[in-house]
Amino acid sequence: MKIKIKSLLKKKGKQKIVCLTAYSKSISKLIDKYCDIVLVGDSLANVLYGMKSTQDLDLKTIIGHANSVKKGLKKSLLVVDMPKKSYLDSNRAVKNAKLIMKQTKCDAVKIENNLKNQHILKAIVKAKIPVMGHIGFTPQFKNKFKVEGKSLNEKKKLIDEAIKIEKLGAFAIVLECITEKTSKEISQILRIPTIGIGSSSACDGQILVTDDLLGLSGFYPKFVKKYTNLEKIIVKAVKNYSNDVLLKKFPSKKNSY
Ligand code: KIV
Repeated sequence: MKIKIKSLLKKKGKQKIVCLTAYSKSISKLIDKYCDIVLVGDSLANVLYGMKSTQDLDLKTIIGHANSVKKGLKKSLLVVDMPKKSYLDSNRAVKNAKLIMKQTKCDAVKIENNLKNQHILKAIVKAKIPVMGHIGFTPQFKNKFKVEGKSLNEKKKLIDEAIKIEKLGAFAIVLECITEKTSKEISQILRIPTIGIGSSSACDGQILVTDDLLGLSGFYPKFVKKYTNLEKIIVKAVKNYSNDVLLKKFPSKKNSY
């Protein structure tokens, strides 16, 4: 049965929320059964397109991938990341959030928050578009990786920001690379679910980039657990194929008409 935002909210404090990224139907159809949320993350800029940052990803590209992902989903909630340049002001944010919803038939959008774009979140909510927030290490606004929420001052700022985002109407919030202590406090204070990435098991749910957990991205920071090594499996298969072609073992009669 298709998951609704309402049922997701009810999981807080009762059952962990499972989230993963997908950029195509081939992956989304495999992960759908095991996820509550499938995110078309703007991490596709790094993972698929080899871009140095997510900051230059355009709307057309993410909409294309979201359309593909949607085709593989039956159950999970589909959330689509808004590229940085698609929500620089409120008007543009609402127009583009509506476009994403209409063209991809997704359930919600996600934006990365900073202390200066709270009016944008408010405008998207006012337009009746479900939106997910994202605080801590936010690659659209921060160029250098840093674990967030270590000092008392940082902890207080993150807690205040999370409370504000909840008040403005986000239905969930991603906490990225925030210390366990701060993530725990935020998760205890908020009524909406917190979805952690590198932010400990104190969060109400977890998200990982699927390519990372499959061992396909070549990017494995401490917070990633590699559940398999697809890189190795693919290289072995391709090497065998190459050898077979060179040795004229492929195609065999079986593969020919
Ligand atoms: O773009 C992405 O994949 C994300 C997740 C890491 C939360 O925003």
